[in-house]
Amino acid sequence: MVDITKSFQGVIANSNINLSIRQGEILGLLGENGAGKTTLMNILFGLYQPDSGTIRINGQDITIKSPLDSRRQGIGMVHQHFMLVQNHSVAENIVLGFEKSPQLFPQRQIADLILSFCEKFNFHIDPAKKVWQLSAGEQQRVEIIQALMNGADLLILDEPTSVLTSQESKDLFKILREMKKQGHLIILISHKLDEILELCDRVTVLQKGQIVGQTETRDVDKKDLARMMIGRDIIFQIEKEPMARSTKVLSIKNLVVKGDKDIEVVKNISFDVYRNEIFGIAGVSGNGQREMVEAITGLRQAESGRIFIEDTDITNQSARHIYDSGIAHVPEERIKFGIAPGLCLYDNAILKQHHKEKYASKLFLAYSKIKQHTQTLLSEFKVLAPSINVQTKNLSGGNIQKLILGREINENPSLLVASHPTYGLDVGATEYLRNQLLRRRKEGGAVLLVSEDLDEIFELCDRIAIMFRGELMGVLSSEDPRLNDIGLMMAGSLRI
Ligand SMILES: Nc1ncnc2c1ncn2[C@@H]1O[C@H](COP(=O)(O)OP(=O)(O)OP(=O)(O)O)[C@@H](O)[C@H]1O
Ligand SMILES: [Mg+2]
Repeated sequence: MVDITKSFQGVIANSNINLSIRQGEILGLLGENGAGKTTLMNILFGLYQPDSGTIRINGQDITIKSPLDSRRQGIGMVHQHFMLVQNHSVAENIVLGFEKSPQLFPQRQIADLILSFCEKFNFHIDPAKKVWQLSAGEQQRVEIIQALMNGADLLILDEPTSVLTSQESKDLFKILREMKKQGHLIILISHKLDEILELCDRVTVLQKGQIVGQTETRDVDKKDLARMMIGRDIIFQIEKEPMARSTKVLSIKNLVVKGDKDIEVVKNISFDVYRNEIFGIAGVSGNGQREMVEAITGLRQAESGRIFIEDTDITNQSARHIYDSGIAHVPEERIKFGIAPGLCLYDNAILKQHHKEKYASKLFLAYSKIKQHTQTLLSEFKVLAPSINVQTKNLSGGNIQKLILGREINENPSLLVASHPTYGLDVGATEYLRNQLLRRRKEGGAVLLVSEDLDEIFELCDRIAIMFRGELMGVLSSEDPRLNDIGLMMAGSLRI
């Protein structure tokens, strides 16, 4: 990519970028939220046209007008937010990406084709399953298979591991190494510095749309990378001051919740969360955490059991009633459940507060107040956006996450339920978010933190519950030495 420049409504997303990648190489692309990584890769994939600059493959200038062109050039991309059709099967989704999709749909033949491909890379996926039934990791595999089946020589992966379990990440890395051996080129965007160091041969660092550093990964460590990215040192271990918990906020009694497949995925769970406390739910995702959170926040019906907030029963109340009772929620799938992507920033800033008096006068929304509030929110939570009038989907992934967090904690909720709140955040923003959670704890709020990142759990939580197949294997104080066996509990082989 030679001298690539791209701006959106006056915001320069890429400025004179020169990037090259050699055969059989894995190149890491690193940079703060909003630095321009996704934009640059979208240009290479033909989703955006650069304002100026050229793309060369094997020394020849080429024009990439659309993803179809880029596919013909052997480029495939797995996007930051999945692009699959939820109501279609895996096979149907994969065929959608074919240049010449068959006129009839020979189910068996296509399924066989997919399965033989999966075998080659050691994937396990059922071609007949509907996409909505798949976990994030599985959905991602479908996207990768789709790209590979289209003959991608160069595979672009935009934050592939932010939604994967650590085992799934390991599996993915095995596949990527295998692809590298077979001569594929890979560009990997990630905020996880360890991953970049482990997997990539070289790394390029973007800052505010410009390249600020390029280096071989063997010459640097994690701290160097963070400094190149943010321009200052990052403290990877934050300080949590000791704090006595105060009154009970959330009380869950014998909760049972069914999943999408109509079987019980939360089985008779009970626990309490107190003010001045961060209560962590650790566990491999897919063990009922999502359904439990959805029941607490009113997005899913509880089958039996009770949920109390400050002694008020809120079981199976509406999501709005629950929000108004003091439970805020940073959801796991932020594009799907956290925002309305096509609405402006100022609409999304009050998505859950629009009925409150301060944002509405009689039958109408008080837009001048709403817009003012949005400005404050953006500056307070360091959301990088061209203006409050853009569609929210145009924000970078990390900035969408910051906007949601701001909206959720702005009204001082008694309890913040945060599912994987640091997914997709850069190291600076992660540090910021963790400090925000600690601030809620200090100011008398409570946080229910669902995370797969054990470092995050240990760093922030006062008590930790370990969830496996819908049950709690133990609830322990973060000081408890028995937590050395947390791995066994997460795998279901130890119950305390
Ligand atoms: N379609 C668009 N319309 C307007 N602005 C956009 C659009 N796409 C990207 N931008 C802006 O360009 C900048 C770069 O965004 P980009 O998505 O490339 O960042 P990123 O480095 O991928 O960040 P993240 O790590 O958060 O995913 C941001 O300021 C973003 O708001
Ligand atoms: Mg991005």
